Amino acid sequence: MSDEEKESSSSKPSDSGEGKPKPKRRAPVRRKKPVEPKARKSEEANVKTVEVPPTAEKAASEVVPIVDQKPESPEPEQKTKDSNSKPQAQPKSSAKPKGEEGNKPKDRPSTPQRQPHRRPQEHAPKYYEDQARNVRDLANLKGKRPIVALTAYDSVMGRLVNDAGVDFILVGDSVGTTLLGHRTTIPVDMTDMVRHTAAVRRAQPKCLLVADLPFGEASFSFDRLLESARRLMQEGGADAVKIEGGRDVADDIEKLVATGVPVLGHIGLLPQTVKAIGGYRKFGVDRQEAEDLYTDAIALEEAGCFAVVGEMIEEAVARELTKQILPPLIGIGSGAGCDGQILVSTDILGYNARKAPSFVKTYANLNQVISRALSQYVEEVRGGKFPS
Ligand code: KIV
Repeated sequence: MSDEEKESSSSKPSDSGEGKPKPKRRAPVRRKKPVEPKARKSEEANVKTVEVPPTAEKAASEVVPIVDQKPESPEPEQKTKDSNSKPQAQPKSSAKPKGEEGNKPKDRPSTPQRQPHRRPQEHAPKYYEDQARNVRDLANLKGKRPIVALTAYDSVMGRLVNDAGVDFILVGDSVGTTLLGHRTTIPVDMTDMVRHTAAVRRAQPKCLLVADLPFGEASFSFDRLLESARRLMQEGGADAVKIEGGRDVADDIEKLVATGVPVLGHIGLLPQTVKAIGGYRKFGVDRQEAEDLYTDAIALEEAGCFAVVGEMIEEAVARELTKQILPPLIGIGSGAGCDGQILVSTDILGYNARKAPSFVKTYANLNQVISRALSQYVEEVRGGKFPS
């Protein structure tokens, strides 16, 4: 959480809501009857996590490896081979005393056979039977089991996050605050988003890959929005895009979905509006805001979002929204009543320049691990211990 975030996260709106200008309301939205999502085959079969099937291994081995790259060193294998093989009969000439003739190349002991070029050891991304592979899988998880998602911004983390078994990876514009040193997500642009999305795609995750549309992209025109979504999908390799906003962007989302762009909605705290709302805070605390959230969520459902992120929404309101809308509500700082959870990977790993938001559970302290390792290296080089 940035300093700006910390300062403002405690500023809750008053409960009365009196005297406040009422936000513009869209025409009342038509409710659909909740329907039971169809049971998926994999869940009926009481599935367990499985390793990559041989065909997937093969496919992955045909492409450039991302992790677990070991330097190629044929020597150790050569030694083993030589030690097991019979000594080769030396040509008579090798018995000659060392001299002009004895040093000629033809008189050298026979050179070991060239080893075939070995590819670095590769490991295919893990695959879980019930991991969401596409937007339909994800939507179908509603009511079955909690959906789990994390952010990633590069190939290494993309691979690790996929292998942990998430249902989708979000290349969030939080890359701005987590890795690029910005105080908010506002400076993040399409160049950043395409580059980081493509990096995660190169990890070949098996799960769904969603990329954020950065600040402003949904506000110019539908053509610009479509062009930006196209870039994230064609150049970045995203399966879907995320757009912040509710009623205000619902019409454009509907058109995007109609052109074949799957959209993840995002309501509650919208980090891209932080300058306008004056800081990061909880949403839905007062009645008016809770109603607005409901209207937004329904508008996104009707626009065709396959799921909706609900950020920093009052727990009881998030729980109710989860029951009311058809697409899964993926919470972040919105309590346990949502259909799933998403967090920023660097936050849960303790790899960050600033304090993580209070709702984050930290599962590791990478700052400390990295810092110790770096100091040890510096110490060893300075002290002449490395290289030994
Ligand atoms: O950018 C991001 O990481 C996000 C998540 C916090 C949902 O929008």
